[in-house]
Amino acid sequence: MNYLEALSRRYSVKKFNNEIIPREILHNILESGKLSASSLGLQPYKILVVESKEMKEKLIPAFYNPSQISTCSHLMVIISKKTLDESYVNGYFRHISEVRETPEEKLDLFRKSINQHINQKTHDEIFNWAEKQSYIVLANLMYAAAIESIDTCPMEGFRQDLIEEILEINPESEKVTVTLALGYRSEEDHFQHMKKVRKPNEKLFKFI
Ligand SMILES: Cc1cc2nc3c(=O)[nH]c(=O)nc-3n(C[C@H](O)[C@H](O)[C@H](O)COP(=O)(O)O)c2cc1C
Repeated sequence: MNYLEALSRRYSVKKFNNEIIPREILHNILESGKLSASSLGLQPYKILVVESKEMKEKLIPAFYNPSQISTCSHLMVIISKKTLDESYVNGYFRHISEVRETPEEKLDLFRKSINQHINQKTHDEIFNWAEKQSYIVLANLMYAAAIESIDTCPMEGFRQDLIEEILEINPESEKVTVTLALGYRSEEDHFQHMKKVRKPNEKLFKFI
């Protein structure tokens, strides 16, 4: 399947068929999230993968439209960092130094400029920036899933307080930004037969 076929086949599933995604495919989809680009490479997010039946059931009341949660194979929960401090940035640079076998001193100028950049930002600006990075991850996960013929539904329709309570998120430092249900579409889901509604090219694209 080429990528346009995969993206045309993709739709936001309302009901899955309860089938479980094989581990290797799930792993590949997660790798695409890991390989996402992020501003300054800081990856200010993490991904919780809910696979236990018990946890999926526990999460049902947290969603306004829970039919996806009760029928999906897995639910990915993308959590954004609310704060970034020098120790996080320094940890990132230690990691670069290890992976690329570069002495930390060589990276010092870049590290200092990032710390300076971050220190100039307000709390809200940092958080807003972090959430934008999370949506890039979401898009890559959805795209990879589509290529793997795995169906998805991105979901923001949840009760923030409840989902964070169930998943034991510390709201001081993190926020559940968006979730992604994955699985296989149910034959009963009539949404799969609906035509895509998208802006016409002349309204969406402008060539200059
Ligand atoms: C960030 C984001 C959040 C969404 N949240 C929900 C949701 O909570 N529940 C739902 O059924 N669909 C949700 N959707 C799906 C959209 O309604 C859907 O993508 C849009 O109507 C286009 O339809 P399609 O994805 O089937 O092509 C969300 C989509 C995105 C990108």
